[in-house]
Amino acid sequence: MNKTAVFDSLAEQKPDPLLELIAKFAADPRSGKVDLGVGVYRDETGRTPVMRAVKAAEHHLWETQESKSYIGPEGDPAFLRALATEVFEERHGGRLLAGIQTPGGTGALRLAAELLALDKQRKIWIGTPTWVNHRAIFAAVGLEVKTYRFFDIAKQTVLVDEMLTTLQNAAPGDAVLLQTSCHNPTGAGLSSQNWRDIAAVIAAKGLFPLFDNAYQGLGRSPVEDAAGMMSVIEAVGEAMVAVSCSKSFSLYRERTGAAYLFGDRQAPLNKGVGNLASHARTSYSMPPAHGAAIVAAILQDPSRRQAWVDELREMRVRIAEIRHAAAEAFAQFRPELAHIGSQEGMFSLLPISPENVQSLRSEHGIYMPDSGRINVAGMRVADVVSVADRVGPYLT
Ligand SMILES: Cc1ncc(COP(=O)(O)O)c(C=O)c1O
Repeated sequence: MNKTAVFDSLAEQKPDPLLELIAKFAADPRSGKVDLGVGVYRDETGRTPVMRAVKAAEHHLWETQESKSYIGPEGDPAFLRALATEVFEERHGGRLLAGIQTPGGTGALRLAAELLALDKQRKIWIGTPTWVNHRAIFAAVGLEVKTYRFFDIAKQTVLVDEMLTTLQNAAPGDAVLLQTSCHNPTGAGLSSQNWRDIAAVIAAKGLFPLFDNAYQGLGRSPVEDAAGMMSVIEAVGEAMVAVSCSKSFSLYRERTGAAYLFGDRQAPLNKGVGNLASHARTSYSMPPAHGAAIVAAILQDPSRRQAWVDELREMRVRIAEIRHAAAEAFAQFRPELAHIGSQEGMFSLLPISPENVQSLRSEHGIYMPDSGRINVAGMRVADVVSVADRVGPYLT
């Protein structure tokens, strides 16, 4: 028998550093340990609870759902309509749209990447730093990934002018990845003037904006968080948006999201969704249904929707409270870190070396990835000062 070596010939893959960090944190016996590395929202008791509206919707589904039959690669049209109204408001920025349900925001980004990669000349421009998975997703489909500098860690400021200058080097038809709000990993926001300038460059150069919308409603109200994105959508010809329901509905493991295409004529949009559906069909066939059914059951029922709106507000108020306390505490060590107070969403990026991140972990039980990204929701308000006192001496 000729033996094959299909598995043995494979390259070893590095374990995901964030998952490794979770395992190390779990194994640490110290009682004062703090996990700032986690990528999910935590409440004041350190839990990531199921939202009340989600529980109510699941109860409703349990009582009314009559079949678990297939839903098709495009997913549930009622979910797509309801989510679009919530994310883009009734007007959809005055544009036409078409959407497809996806396994989380990652699924939407991957489908978008597949579609963009069909043009072999096209490149995608991503900001640095950005969510670690972005580059990998686009590189995986063979797209050439170019970067624009987005954030100065030492100064804690966005580099809009540099970004706009770099984008002048992009070719017509190139895609530009933009995070809608609550930037991962910096928390840095853009002013309405910044967004108008970005829209002007995109329109003038004939670029294609792809929005990653993963944290809507965790910075400001959902409408305010979407305002910059909507101003770009209104100003350009076509756009795509990857929506994640993981954070804003706390549905992480249910893998719930959608990809929306914007334009001026319905036929090309439908063709676009047809192409995305065809990719879906040959990879995972159709999206998981449960999370989307929950979201639809929340958004279609006024009292469940109100409960969700209220709880989302509670989450962002807690995040803002921690940010205010953290801004004051960390600014004692680096004045620039006062910006933590005006940054939005769960993440901020500390000026700290990977060596010091490791020392902090072994000496004080404070966990964060080597990049220095912290999830402010990993702290209780009462612990912020003691965390800052332990982290401060390690900052660069
Ligand atoms: C910026 C950004 N985009 C997309 C995602 C993907 O979210 P999902 O879990 O819905 O795939 C994340 C998750 O951490 C994220 O931080």
